[in-house]
Amino acid sequence: MITKKILVTPGDGIGPEVTKQAIHVLKTVAPRFELQLELSEKPVGGVAYDLTGTPIPDETLKAAKNSDAVLLGAVGGPKWEPLDFSVRPERGLLKLRSELELYANLRPAVIYGDLVNASTLKPEIVDGADLMVVRELTGGIYFGEPRGVEVRNGERVGFNTLVYSESEIRRISKVGFEIAMKRKKKLTSVDKANVLESTELWREIATEVGKDFPEVELSHMYADNAAMQIIRNPKQFDTMVTTNMFGDILSDAAAMMTGSLGMLPSASIGGKNGMYEPVHGSAPDISGLDKANPLAMILSVGMMLRYSFDLTEADEMIQQAVVKTLETYRTDDIMAEGKTLIGCQEMGERVLQILEQK
Ligand code: IPM
Ligand code: MG
Repeated sequence: MITKKILVTPGDGIGPEVTKQAIHVLKTVAPRFELQLELSEKPVGGVAYDLTGTPIPDETLKAAKNSDAVLLGAVGGPKWEPLDFSVRPERGLLKLRSELELYANLRPAVIYGDLVNASTLKPEIVDGADLMVVRELTGGIYFGEPRGVEVRNGERVGFNTLVYSESEIRRISKVGFEIAMKRKKKLTSVDKANVLESTELWREIATEVGKDFPEVELSHMYADNAAMQIIRNPKQFDTMVTTNMFGDILSDAAAMMTGSLGMLPSASIGGKNGMYEPVHGSAPDISGLDKANPLAMILSVGMMLRYSFDLTEADEMIQQAVVKTLETYRTDDIMAEGKTLIGCQEMGERVLQILEQK
């Protein structure tokens, strides 16, 4: 047995409900792979603000740095929207990402089993689609300085800066190529090089890094076209690498292609530990109603086992259990005719049942 420290930060809205189900799965699967877990829990986001006045207390940050992996639910909600920008729940998440140096965010959009019918796109367009979005996570316009709102010529002006250094582009491009190597060896680098200098540099560096990966077929695409192509013909893509903001937008589009935002997990890597979170947000409208889909969070646990602890088989086991569960059971967001509608907790239990039979 090896022991690993996991920090759990359930956060806001549906975060705690989906996290609870994911932890049950983690606790069931880990010991089968000789992995012993030391779990601890700390607040992040709006709940942390309510308790301490900051969305990311030092104690949480310290615990995150001292852990082998972080499992995060979701942050944010209307309650905290009036707050000053500096203490918004989202700031907590962004600080965690940047302080842990998690510059690479992997967001796999896959159609699980017969969920093909839950997509708003036609089945023949999405059936078999399998796209991995590699999003840059600690740079770009999310973090660029200067930023702010100030008065210029008698009116308020808001501004942000889209900035990328060569080294930042190089390291995320490398992750893109490495991931593509393990997949179908096709990488699409998404930029807006026709308009933005910073992404003209992005294109140049991605091309340069590609020389070290001659087996990978590299193509470049403008972000607007990429958004359109994900909806038109998602099967043309294998791996996509892009900036922080384009990745935020395109991964939501890719998620929806799979039927629901409630299905998409993510892994943030690059630093000494990893952070795992569903792509969906805190969904305040259904929070506390036992309606949330916990599968993105459960699949995020699978990604943790794969990327932080090298347990590919454990991830596959979880994915298979999810596919099997979906044959019969559905939460509201992916409900279809002939299936049984269940809540968040029961969905967690059904996945566990299947895992226990294995
Ligand atoms: C995401 C979310 C976050 C982001 C928010 C909650 C700060 O939309 O993880 O995609 O914009 O990165
Ligand atoms: Mg987003």
